[in-house]
Amino acid sequence: MRLRRLRASPGFRRLARETNLRPENLIAPLFVRSGSKVKKPIASMPGCFQFSADLLAQEAKTAQRLGIGGVILFGIPDKKDPLGRGAYDSNGVIQRALKAVKDAAPELPVIADLCFCEYTDHGHCGVVKKSSGGGWILDNDATLDLMMKTARSQAEAGADIIAPSAMIDGQVKTIRQALDESGHAMTPILAYAAKFASAFYGPFRDAAESPPGFGDRSSYQMDPANAREALREAALDVEEGADIVMVKPALAYLDLVYQIKRRFKMPTAAYSVSGEYAMLKAAAANGWLDEKKAALESLTSIKRAGADIILTYYAFEAAAWLEKS
Ligand code: PBG
Repeated sequence: MRLRRLRASPGFRRLARETNLRPENLIAPLFVRSGSKVKKPIASMPGCFQFSADLLAQEAKTAQRLGIGGVILFGIPDKKDPLGRGAYDSNGVIQRALKAVKDAAPELPVIADLCFCEYTDHGHCGVVKKSSGGGWILDNDATLDLMMKTARSQAEAGADIIAPSAMIDGQVKTIRQALDESGHAMTPILAYAAKFASAFYGPFRDAAESPPGFGDRSSYQMDPANAREALREAALDVEEGADIVMVKPALAYLDLVYQIKRRFKMPTAAYSVSGEYAMLKAAAANGWLDEKKAALESLTSIKRAGADIILTYYAFEAAAWLEKS
């Protein structure tokens, strides 16, 4: 058998290609802050910016024009407090951004990330309380209450999809209920089902100005060593009503993208996180990698593993590259 026959020409390779990456598979994460005409570079993520809502709306138009599948918004509020009130303020930075993006690009699916770490002064993903041992823990149920408020507020502001990312037990069930009871029964939930306590989030914490003020996130995000537990997380989110399940990060966790897709047969997303992007950008800036090839190879691998939807900071560049190829 000569397996090389179908590799012999570009035409054969195209014909025999099993995985085709498309712009509509990609979701662009975007950061929004207050003000107007703001486009503030993020040092550890070259090519990414914090935008004010007016310029964010322009980005959304570009995304729509490039055929990108959607955008996911992260807000950076002016003020932070222990309860992350900015997250559920009807006039908050994310609510205003959602409205601006929906006005500018009505057909583009707009996802609201639902977490509190950008909004709390301590930088954790929910309400923090003292633990009996003298330390601190994330208060699960108090955080669920705030998640309900935030989901309602985001849906009211125009979010097409709500994406809870705090890794609080019961978050999908609670948000589903909050949406159903507030006239948003048709708003889907993209669940960060298996989100790991990963070092690859480093640059994001610069971008969203959200590093934890004390401790780390390993009492709520998952241990990178655990695969069976990731399947339990996904099973629970499916049972609680998730419409899309996501694995995060992507490249170091492709075994889970594969297993979760196979087992649950759900629309499956993978989040290629800030550190994955920063590694490629840094290597490319040094001339150590062909950036376009390396980025498209990474994204294609994530799709090949089973992801239908890929969140990536390369969304704009990749969509433009794919348009030309
Ligand atoms: C908020 C959140 C984080 C990311 C997405 N949503 C940071 C974190 O959990 O620390 C990381 C995304 C990235 O690194 O690109 N909880």
